[in-house]
Amino acid sequence: MIIDLSLVGMEKGQQYEAIITTVDDKGNKNAAPIGIICKEKDKILCRIFEGSTTLNNIVLNEEFIVNITTNPCFFTFSTIGNIPENFFMESDSNLPILNGVDAYIKCKVINVKSTFKKTIPNEKPSEAKIILSDVEEIILNNKCAKAANRGFYSLIESLVNFTRIDKVDNEKKEYFIDRFKESQRIINKVGSNEEKKAIDFLGETLINKGYKID
Ligand SMILES: Cc1cc2nc3c(=O)[nH]c(=O)nc-3n(C[C@H](O)[C@H](O)[C@H](O)COP(=O)(O)O)c2cc1C
Repeated sequence: MIIDLSLVGMEKGQQYEAIITTVDDKGNKNAAPIGIICKEKDKILCRIFEGSTTLNNIVLNEEFIVNITTNPCFFTFSTIGNIPENFFMESDSNLPILNGVDAYIKCKVINVKSTFKKTIPNEKPSEAKIILSDVEEIILNNKCAKAANRGFYSLIESLVNFTRIDKVDNEKKEYFIDRFKESQRIINKVGSNEEKKAIDFLGETLINKGYKID
């Protein structure tokens, strides 16, 4: 069995968005979107805020599943509340897995460290835990499985806005510039080197057109 996170499109040092599924001591299944940082081809790191069910369950069981999916409803349901029971797979595994995901990764905790992390840029940091885990198994349901990355979606939004910016009034131009800056912030935080190059190039193009972006 090959354990290499590049099988799901993850590169060392990059952050991706996935859905972590866990279980509590009463057998209740839980799902939540969490940022996954690829540390090595067989190691991941996540930073999870205190108070979340996911964190409690991970600390309790020291194992969890990372579901690789781009299913919009899985992300939405698990953000707003929980994912209904019938969206979980029937399986003999002691850990819950989402139905029909492109891939899922079985993880075992190596260590948990305390930290402070900002929920929102420029806000006061909140208590969180940094969880380093070993990847024990990668199950590919779709050989083209690719973990979601916010950088790429942010870049696409910026490009769409770029095609419209010359055609709108000043208020909307300002809105597009604000959106550009936010995309730039996201890409610089979680994007790939290629996405960083692309957003810099877009920024230079906006400046050359006479827009002020700093
Ligand atoms: C795309 C996305 C990524 C997220 N990443 C994280 C993260 O890395 N760490 C974290 O603590 N919360 C993160 N969240 C917020 C949690 O998913 C959210 O607080 C959730 O309600 C926690 O659910 P739980 O209490 O069932 O664990 C993220 C949310 C979204 C939508």
